[in-house]
Amino acid sequence: MAEGSWTRRMFEEAAVLKKKHGEHNVFDLSLGNPIMEPPAEFKQALKKLSESPISGMHRYMENAGYEETRAAVANQVSVETGIQVGAHDIVMTVGAAGAINVILKTILNSGDEVIVFAPYFMEYDNYIDNHSGKPVVVKADDKFLPDLADLAGKITRKTKAVIVNSPNNPTGVVYSTDFVNRLVSVLQNKEKEYSSAIYLISDEAYSSLIYDGLPYVPVLKIYHRCLIATSHSKDLALPGERIGYIAVNPNIEAKADLVSGLIFCNRILGFVNAPALMQKLIQHLQHITVSIADYQEKRDFMYNSLTNMGYKLVKPQGAFYMFPQTPIENDIEFVHELQKHNVLTVPGRGFGTPGYFRISYCVGQQTLEGSLFGFRKTAEQFRLS
Ligand SMILES: Cc1ncc(COP(=O)(O)O)c(C=O)c1O
Repeated sequence: MAEGSWTRRMFEEAAVLKKKHGEHNVFDLSLGNPIMEPPAEFKQALKKLSESPISGMHRYMENAGYEETRAAVANQVSVETGIQVGAHDIVMTVGAAGAINVILKTILNSGDEVIVFAPYFMEYDNYIDNHSGKPVVVKADDKFLPDLADLAGKITRKTKAVIVNSPNNPTGVVYSTDFVNRLVSVLQNKEKEYSSAIYLISDEAYSSLIYDGLPYVPVLKIYHRCLIATSHSKDLALPGERIGYIAVNPNIEAKADLVSGLIFCNRILGFVNAPALMQKLIQHLQHITVSIADYQEKRDFMYNSLTNMGYKLVKPQGAFYMFPQTPIENDIEFVHELQKHNVLTVPGRGFGTPGYFRISYCVGQQTLEGSLFGFRKTAEQFRLS
C-alpha cells in the first residue's frame, strides 16, 4: 500500500487541485478514465431492456455467465481472430482486472513465475502476488518492444505465464504479427528445453483502439496456450460497469479442466458472476465501439504539440496513452514541475520504467489544449528545444 499506485495518487492530487483552482483550470491527464460517453447503441439497448424487462434477469446465473452472451462474444472473437471459438471457451468476468485475476488464480501454484514486459500496467504485480506468484520483469528496447533475448534469459522451469498487452498501457505501442511470432517461438523453444508449458495471457483491454489502419494481431490464434483477458471498459467506455471476459484458445490442452477451473475461480474469488445487466446489454453490442477517429485525432494533436516543443517520444499506435522521456533523470521531480502548472501526469516508475512520464489523452479537447501552456513552460525550463 505504501508503494501505492502512482496513477491513483496523481488522480487524487488532481481532485484536490480541482477543488482549489476550479475544474477548468486543472489539466488531469493521469487516469485512463475515458470522458467519452458510451455509444448511442448502448443507451438504446439499456432503454429497450428497461422498458421490456426479461423475467429473472436479476437472478443468479451460471458462474461463467449467460450462454447467449457467451455465444455472442464467442462469435465476435471468432470473427476477429480467425479461429472458431465457442460459447464454452468464454467466461464472463468483472472487467479485464477480474479476468486476469481469475486466470492467475486458476493456473498458478505458489512460487510460480509470471513474466511481464516493462513498461507495464503495474497492477499486474499485485494481481500476481494475490495468487502467490512472483513477477519477473523483462526489459524493452528503445521502441518499447520487449527484448526477446532478455525474455529467453529470464524464462525458468518455474515460468508459468507471460503477460502481453498490445496496444500497450502506458506506451501505446502495438505489436506486429512478426513480433508476436518471434515472441512465441522463444516460448516454444524454452518449453522444449524445460519440458514445460507456458501460458500466454493476452491483455487486450485496448484491442479496439488501434490507429493508422494497423491490423489487430490475433495472439489467440498464433499460440495455442493463449488466453485473452479483456473488457468493454475502453471500447464501449464502460469502465465503471465492470464487464469483461476470458477467451480460451479452443486447442489448449486439458481445456475442459482449465475452463472448469476458470469458472470455479470466478465464483470463489467472490465475483460469483459478471454483472447480469451488463451481460444482457453487451450481448447486442459486440460489433460496436466508441469513435476511434476521435482518439486518433487527440493522439495526433498531443504528439505533434509535444514533439514541436522538443519532447522525445515514440509515436503511439493504439490505446490512449503516450510515454515521453523526462528531460531530467528524476521522473517524480519532473512530474511535480508539470504539476506546478496544474498539469497532472504519472511518473514512469509507476510503470516500472523511471525516466519517462505517462500522459492519458482520453480527456476533452479543452483539457488537452489547456495543458499545453504547462508543457511549454516546463519544456522551456529544461531547455528542450
Ligand atoms: C493494461 C490494462 N489491463 C487491464 C486493465 C483493467 O481493465 P478493467 O477496467 O476492464 O478491469 C486496465 C485498466 O486501465 C489496463 O490499462
